[in-house]
Formats: sequence, C-alpha cells, structure tokens
Amino acid sequence: MPAKDDFLRADEEAGSREAFDDAALYDFEYRRRRGDINFYRRLAGNRLQFAPAGPIVDLACGTGRLLMPLLRDGHTVVGLDRSAAMLAAARHRVARLSASRRQRCLLLRADLRAFSLRPRFALAVAAFHSVQHLYAEADLLHFLRATRACLVPGGWLAFDVLPPDPAWIARDPLRRWGRTMFRHPLSGQRLVYTTNHRFDPRRRVLHMRLYYLPVDERGRPSGPERVVRLCHLQLEPARVRGLLARTGFRLLACFGGFDGRPVDGEPGLADEHVYVAAAR
Ligand SMILES: C[S@@+](CC[C@H](N)C(=O)[O-])C[C@H]1O[C@@H](n2cnc3c(N)ncnc32)[C@H](O)[C@@H]1O
Repeated sequence: MPAKDDFLRADEEAGSREAFDDAALYDFEYRRRRGDINFYRRLAGNRLQFAPAGPIVDLACGTGRLLMPLLRDGHTVVGLDRSAAMLAAARHRVARLSASRRQRCLLLRADLRAFSLRPRFALAVAAFHSVQHLYAEADLLHFLRATRACLVPGGWLAFDVLPPDPAWIARDPLRRWGRTMFRHPLSGQRLVYTTNHRFDPRRRVLHMRLYYLPVDERGRPSGPERVVRLCHLQLEPARVRGLLARTGFRLLACFGGFDGRPVDGEPGLADEHVYVAAAR
C-alpha cells in the first residue's frame, strides 16, 4: 500500500476517536443540539402504531445524549459505543437515574465494525452522523448486516448523515473557519476554536481538523494549540439506498432534516438526511 494511503487510513482511524476523548467537551459543544433528540424520541414512540414493540439499541450511543431521554420515556435501551471516555460519561448519567430506569439500560463497549447482538430489538438508532465513521464499504456492510440481524422481523433502523455539500467540501483548507471562543467546561480554560478540512476524493472521506487554542483573558495565546482529528465519510443518498437494499432493509422514509421536510426541499448547511428503514 502506498505511504500516502497508510497515512490516510491512520488519519481516518484517529478521526473516529480523537473528538470523543474529551466527553465533557463533547457534551458542552452539543448541549443545545435538540432537533435530533426530539426526532428520535418521537420516532421511538410513534413507530408503535406501525412496527413491533420492543427494546431499542442505540448504536454509537456516546455520552447518552439520546439514550437518557429514551430511558426517561420508558423504553428499554442497550447503548453501544467504542469510546471508553464517552461510555464512562454515559455510565455516570445512568447511575443517577432511579433504580427502575437503570434496570432498563445496558451499556456495552463494542466496535460498530465488528459487533453482533441477539435478534431482540424493535428499533436501532445511530444518531448524530455516527455512521459516517465507517469509512470502508466492508465496514458499512458489516454494520448494516449486524444491525439487521439484531432486529426482530419488521424492526426499524433510523440514522442520520450530513450529506455532501460541494461548496463546503471545497473550502480553502489553509484558512481557519468557524472561529468561536468559550471556556472548557471542566478546566475553565478559555479556548479559541477554529476548524478546517481536506477532502480525500478516492475514499470520499473529509479529513477535518478542530483547533483549540488556549488564550488568556485578553485573548492572547497562552499555551500550545490542541489539534483534534475528525473524519467523516461523505455518503450520497443513492449510495445509502443501495447499501440498505443490499443488507435486507426496506427504506421507509428519507427526510431532509429533523423537522421531517422532504429530502429535495430547500437545502441548508448542516441539514441532515435522516433515513428510516425496516428489516425485511
Ligand atoms: C458524533 S458521536 C455521536 C454520539 C451519540 N450518538 C450522540 O448522538 O451524541 C459519534 C460516536 O460514534 C462512536 N464511534 C465512532 N466510531 C465507532 C466505531 N467504529 N464503533 C463504535 N463506536 C464508534 C464515537 O465513540 C462517538 O461516541
């Protein structure tokens, strides 16, 4: 394998891990992200009119951002993630629940590229772009087949991806974008956040860099910048449809946002495509 390919694969691996090493920062950065949670909660409740009842599996559950509301809504939920830091945060949250809610939850450390669960779930969810950390076709196929295998007949899979946006992908990789300033939720350190990215057209992976520069009260750099790698596979709707068809799913709906608008509606930056499919 050429050295450049080795480098890109190593970057992909780091890009599925580094952004999840600091779970407190993750929860702080996404504390106002509610649209996806509301969507999946509604889906978990309303699906019961059309699909079998039963436990939910939250694939790549992270810190439990979605798992916690699902438990509070009365569902039984198994959460699965690979990151020790994210799972520790989820465990901490679950431990504070009442005994009756705790008993309806199980957290497992596992890799989406190599997991297998008993066929007992009525709904599988993979929220907040998690599927985009599966960069190779074989990994996507394993994920979908293993998910299909853990669903009861007629069970549903729901997940979201940020669809490719050519203008955003083509942004100048040498510039810094999205500058914001905030304090780290644990250390209180003031940080300036910026980001940029490069696109690997062969693997269709966006290699992002998230920069955290410590600054003093007057905004002057006060320490070394932390660079976090984050990679996302760019998934076009046609490819997702093809993958679902090959792995035993029937596409029920594809929305152009968490408000349920059609996929060909007015597009906007950061509008997810949300797929809902049934196990055939
Ligand atoms: C953007 S976070 C989403 C977490 C959670 N679903 C949410 O909505 O907040 C992506 C999650 O995917 C997990 N992840 C990435 N690659 C994974 C893999 N191969 N196997 C299992 N989990 C993985 C990360 O650890 C992280 O928790």
